[in-house]
Amino acid sequence: MTIKIGRNDPCWCGSGKKYKSCHAAFDDRIKHYANLGHEVPEHSMLKKAEDVEKLKASAKINVAVLDYIEKNIKEGLDTATIDKWVYDITTDMGGIPAPLNYNGYPYSVCTSVNDQVCHGFPSKDVILKSGDIVNVDCSTILDGYFSDSSRMFLIGDVSPEKKKLVEVTKEAMYKGLEATKPWGFLGDMSQAVHDHCYANGYTVVREIGGHGVGFEFHEDPWVGYNEKAGTGMLLVPGFVFTIEPMVNMGKVEIYTDPKNDWEVYTKDHQPSAQWEIMVLVTETGTEVISW
Ligand code: MF3
Ligand code: CO
Repeated sequence: MTIKIGRNDPCWCGSGKKYKSCHAAFDDRIKHYANLGHEVPEHSMLKKAEDVEKLKASAKINVAVLDYIEKNIKEGLDTATIDKWVYDITTDMGGIPAPLNYNGYPYSVCTSVNDQVCHGFPSKDVILKSGDIVNVDCSTILDGYFSDSSRMFLIGDVSPEKKKLVEVTKEAMYKGLEATKPWGFLGDMSQAVHDHCYANGYTVVREIGGHGVGFEFHEDPWVGYNEKAGTGMLLVPGFVFTIEPMVNMGKVEIYTDPKNDWEVYTKDHQPSAQWEIMVLVTETGTEVISW
């Protein structure tokens, strides 16, 4: 059902202004792209100024958790300890770790080491050793608002090959951010990520991607990093999503551990890296909400 708003009616955004002097031009611009056949966002997925404030409050916890991990992660630490840090810091700051019980996920954080692509289970038995690369993926709920970001950590003496994988993956994420623009397309970001990774001889995981985020942990649209510029959802101010490519040193194929249906590995057991930022599209560009 579509309800037609009169030009003199109050705007749907809640500003209290008349529609014609508020979001009418914005909606016309979206409609133009929809008529050309592009996928366009629904109003309900866009974040208003007061939502953005709440997202930033949630992200403040998420960033604090990752900052703490960055300072304290080291050789000899088991990843169950990281899970405890995440739970304790998040709840002390008034938040809830979003992964805990999400679709049955049994921990507060994902810790993915070396050939683990994502969703690695923290464990007393996984002891970080020199040469490991590890992704720690944190997500927080505060006041019903979700934040989500992840970082890579190098443990001890890491080989130049693995260091480069971690660096290039981070660069690719930021190239994706640079390509993210209001009234551009999600595919512009995807292609920028893809091209940088493949130019360095890496592959980008196809089956698992990013997502809209904020009101829910995982909102539409699904965000891939192998799509073409000029395709995918139209990016408009108020749209919030994650840039979180999973980049493999070797072949692109992955598999999920049948023992728990969560932990994802590279098929060839070569290393994989991932960084994640949560990004708001603004009137003039972008703002990174969580990192
Ligand atoms: N934090 C992951 C993401 O970036 C999702 C993890 S799902 C979980 O989207 F259940 F493992 F938490
Ligand atoms: Co995410």
